[in-house]
Amino acid sequence: MNTYSLAVIGGDGIGPDVTQAALAGVQAAAERYGFTVRTTSFDLGAEHYLRTGEVMDRPTTVALEKHDAVLLGAVGDPRVAPGILERGLVVALRTAFNQSVNIRPVRLYPGVESPVRGVTSQNCDLVVVRENTEGLYTGGGSLSHAGSDRAVAVQNSITTAGATAEAVEFAFQLAQQRRRRVTLCHKTNILVHAGQLWQQTVNRIAESYPEVEHDYVHADAMCQHLPLDPGRFDVIVTDNLFGDIISDLGATVQGGLGLAASANFNPRGTAPSMYEPVHGSAPDIAGKGWANPAAAALSAALCLAGLGQREAALSLEAAVASVVAELPALAGPEMGADTAALGHRIAQRVAEGEPVRDGTGEQSLMSALGRLAQRAHPMSV
Ligand code: NAD
Ligand code: IPM
Ligand code: MN
Repeated sequence: MNTYSLAVIGGDGIGPDVTQAALAGVQAAAERYGFTVRTTSFDLGAEHYLRTGEVMDRPTTVALEKHDAVLLGAVGDPRVAPGILERGLVVALRTAFNQSVNIRPVRLYPGVESPVRGVTSQNCDLVVVRENTEGLYTGGGSLSHAGSDRAVAVQNSITTAGATAEAVEFAFQLAQQRRRRVTLCHKTNILVHAGQLWQQTVNRIAESYPEVEHDYVHADAMCQHLPLDPGRFDVIVTDNLFGDIISDLGATVQGGLGLAASANFNPRGTAPSMYEPVHGSAPDIAGKGWANPAAAALSAALCLAGLGQREAALSLEAAVASVVAELPALAGPEMGADTAALGHRIAQRVAEGEPVRDGTGEQSLMSALGRLAQRAHPMSV
């Protein structure tokens, strides 16, 4: 029997609650599809930082790396200055583990109402592939004369041919398995240097995928097209910061941050991938049980796909979809059940739902990711 080791970082705010709920679904899927998941919890986040003065030490990174995958809730706490936990943990792990693409599905499940009129489950199924280690996130820069009216801040953005190509190649591979269209999203009209590198990379890689169409949309215009006409997109490839922003917009279109999943994926399989909801620690609702665990559970489904367990992934996704379709509201006390209760409901649905056979949902992200993971590192999945 296959056994997978999962490192679990619940983190801050709603992070631990949604992660526990997601794990209930994972364990139910493991039981049903005949594999074992061993979890190791890592006590990281704001409390740990405030107690020790350190976000994450080297031995912890080494220990995390020994796992097959990492499941992350969220970090961020009003008591800690912005950036310390986000950079010190989330960005640090994405970089250290070469999780070069961030896969963020925008899919409206049947029965879920989009706040945007005219958006339906038939016309809203796209994937944002976000370059995950570069751009403005590389952190270089300076603030001189801080606190004075002569203050100058410089925030560097780095774009390399290698990382750009890795994201673009992945986007084309994914599109080839889906509806065969890649859209580059950038600001080539202003960020002319980085923009040129992105566009040239897309043009070059597109030559190896003659059956995949490609086009281009500026990031500002994307904020109109994505909500009003999501059906025109299949795979959107974009730089780190644009990907961050448009994926929250995508989350809104698909029913809110409580439903938006993501995979920080290492396409070469050289270190574990990390799966986390798009949302943050939501301090405004922390401890209330009002967080929707669907985003975390769908991220866990992506994790199962990344581990090569496609049937289990599809089954967990189907369970989440059927649970959210019944909710009277997608967040807050109006959901009618708290985070943990929804986790149990998802797990129960995995155990009792229709069996999912491999080969179904061929174009779905879960299947495509499962196949790409298997192709990338056949020995480990
Ligand atoms: P957020 O995503 O935490 O919350 C935005 C809004 O969405 C809030 O009103 C929140 O209540 C709601 N929301 C989020 N998740 C929800 C869920 N599962 N169910 C129902 N409602 C949900 O964004 P923010 O408020 O800008 O950030 C809070 C903290 O989280 C900050 O410290 C930020 O840096 C951090 N953050 C961390 C991550 C991460 O760890 N991956 C991601 C994003 C933000
Ligand atoms: C996300 C978050 C992160 C990001 C932060 C926490 C580093 O907003 O995963 O979308 O900006 O990438
Ligand atoms: Mn974000």
